[in-house]
Amino acid sequence: MAKISIIGAGMTGSTTAHWLAEREIADIVLVDIIEGMPQGKALDLTEAMPIVGKDVSIVGSNDYEATKDSDVVIITAGSPRKPGMSRDDLLTTNAKIVAKVARETIERSPDAIFIVLTNPLDVMTYLTWKVTGLPTYRVVGQAGILDSARMRAFVAMETGVSVENIHCYVLGGHGDDMVPLTSHSNIAGVPLNKYLPKDKLDAIVERTRKGGGEIVGLLKKGSAFYAPSAALAQMAEAIIKDKHLIVPATSYLDGEYGLHDIFIGVPTMLGRKGVEKVIEYELTDEEMEAFHKSAAHVKSNVAKLTEFGLI
Ligand code: APR
Repeated sequence: MAKISIIGAGMTGSTTAHWLAEREIADIVLVDIIEGMPQGKALDLTEAMPIVGKDVSIVGSNDYEATKDSDVVIITAGSPRKPGMSRDDLLTTNAKIVAKVARETIERSPDAIFIVLTNPLDVMTYLTWKVTGLPTYRVVGQAGILDSARMRAFVAMETGVSVENIHCYVLGGHGDDMVPLTSHSNIAGVPLNKYLPKDKLDAIVERTRKGGGEIVGLLKKGSAFYAPSAALAQMAEAIIKDKHLIVPATSYLDGEYGLHDIFIGVPTMLGRKGVEKVIEYELTDEEMEAFHKSAAHVKSNVAKLTEFGLI
């Protein structure tokens, strides 16, 4: 059985473990700094396995030794947003946490593929790549599946069509300037703009951009975790099962879309090697401009890592 370590056993980390265990994808290790919490959650999940009939080992620990020889490392450690905060507000706090997590895990699992979730996501993915020293294809961030799933859910609510028929692609940085691609989105092959009038489509795009904030505003404490963790589980499964699955994910660009030295959301093929391919969509001028604007925002945040001496 493959082994997946999830660092940060909070809402997103433990729910990721739940999805993965229920689908018998891999043995799981949950690590957190809070004493007893990862152990308690792991034991609780272990005790659910006879009910759902899955044979996986789920271990909780405060010690990184438990993560040794993982095939996939998922980083969710850090602080979530509170109402009124942007993802960028988390930068310095979470960068220190993510840098430590990356150092501790790469030392014990030099062959692992790293999936990052901690916000601000694009910056934390870049930081993980720098700290681990891994080739770019072995580090990827989760944001695009989530943002696209939000858009798909909103389109389903509006049209009443099954979510399975709705295909949406949200690219760019994981912030309010993300780029929902209406030009590539469709319902069972029919372009979205043929299905929905412009005002409805614009409202869906806007709600997608602010989707994370909408949940933070409702929860008051903490941020979304069901959909983010489902996205993480999908990515980990695609890697472990070598699926060559194309999903929007935060990958390294070396010239694609006219950008260099940046991790940002693009259509990405995931398999056992990690990022197998970055796919270049033909974007409209307007979409390309929005994508580059989002990239400039990510770059200015990455520059803060150097400014604060974090890389
Ligand atoms: N090492 C290990 N775990 C840590 C560390 C650390 N150095 N620092 C914090 N943690 C743990 C916390 O103890 C907590 O259990 O990370 C966990 C984060 O869980 P939650 O607070 O429940 O937050 P969650 O909703 O899971 O979000 C985590 O994902 O979506 C992003 O913006 C969100 O960056 C945030 C991250």
